[in-house]
Amino acid sequence: MVGMTRNDKNPRNGTNAVEVRGLVKHYGSTKALDGVDLDVREGTVLGVLGPNGAGKTTLVRCLSTLIVPDAGHAVVAGYDVVKQPRQLRRTIGLTGQYASVDEKLSGWENLYMIGRLLDLSRKAARARADELLERFSLTDAARRAAMDYSGGMRRRLDLAASMIGRPAVLYLDEPTTGLDPRTRNEVWDEVQRMVAEGATVLLTTQYMEEAEQLANELTVIDRGRIIANGGVDELKAKVGGRTLHIRPSDPAQLPAMAQALRETGLDGVAGAQVVPDEGLLYVPILSDEQLTAVIGLLGARGYPLAHVATALPSLDEVFLAITGEKSTSATDTIPAEVAA
Ligand SMILES: Nc1ncnc2c1ncn2[C@@H]1O[C@H](COP(=O)(O)OP(=O)(O)O)[C@@H](O)[C@H]1O
Ligand SMILES: [Mg+2]
Repeated sequence: MVGMTRNDKNPRNGTNAVEVRGLVKHYGSTKALDGVDLDVREGTVLGVLGPNGAGKTTLVRCLSTLIVPDAGHAVVAGYDVVKQPRQLRRTIGLTGQYASVDEKLSGWENLYMIGRLLDLSRKAARARADELLERFSLTDAARRAAMDYSGGMRRRLDLAASMIGRPAVLYLDEPTTGLDPRTRNEVWDEVQRMVAEGATVLLTTQYMEEAEQLANELTVIDRGRIIANGGVDELKAKVGGRTLHIRPSDPAQLPAMAQALRETGLDGVAGAQVVPDEGLLYVPILSDEQLTAVIGLLGARGYPLAHVATALPSLDEVFLAITGEKSTSATDTIPAEVAA
């Protein structure tokens, strides 16, 4: 169960825990980061949303001092990523897309070892390992080798490992990519607990739903550039809470249908999108009333409909709405329910 939703959070206009200005990073001719600006306010979660290859991991690596940016600057918890890397490393935690634990060691040994690497005394490292295993519900598996853990347990161990040094700022780089929905919920619960305890989180994700669950603010990144940012509700409103997928019997009628919706103002903030390849009209839907009215109007105008369904907005649709072009990602839509 996810215990808390973003609505329970009340971000204040505090100081920025992360400030990034004009960050640039090239890999040969690839501009992985092409002048990125972003802020994460203390005690909040910034969701960095973007498809594969957008530059999310490159951003996290720059902010963790693992790579040096070519231009621009970034300050995390008051430390400059380039000029004060040692101090900065002590204040951050990082959970990557791929497990960073040692497979051969037990869960307990992994945490103990990291504690020792972070200069904790033997006694303190032992206590911290016990405490975090307990907290992440891994006490029973403490002595088992990490290679025998399930995917979810492994990810929880990863999160525990990133918490050992009590980081003020935590980077979670696609923390639930590849996890099943139940395990994903477990990870979300843990992240929400960390935030409730005061951590500042920069979360990268390909999942709109994950960003909605966890983030106060969103930044959408594509091809190394920020293409949109704002509050979760703000972006959702741009995209529409759900998307109505309408397949007319005659695809040639798509433009006229879109036009009819535009003229009557029924097509939402982002507007209706004709997708000729798929023979579909996408309409962002913000209320049941709007949904009923859209179907009603098309019926009244005499457009025969072959199929109608609603879907949660996919990342593709967010991109479509924000940029007016299809993203490079091939994310799937989650079918919600079939409308009458
Ligand atoms: N070590 C590297 N060497 C060369 N190109 C890289 C390297 N890391 C990332 N890239 C390229 O930089 C771009 C951004 O990658 P990345 O930051 O990993 O994106 P994301 O994490 O959003 O999937 C991609 O085009 C990727 O191929
Ligand atoms: Mg990545």
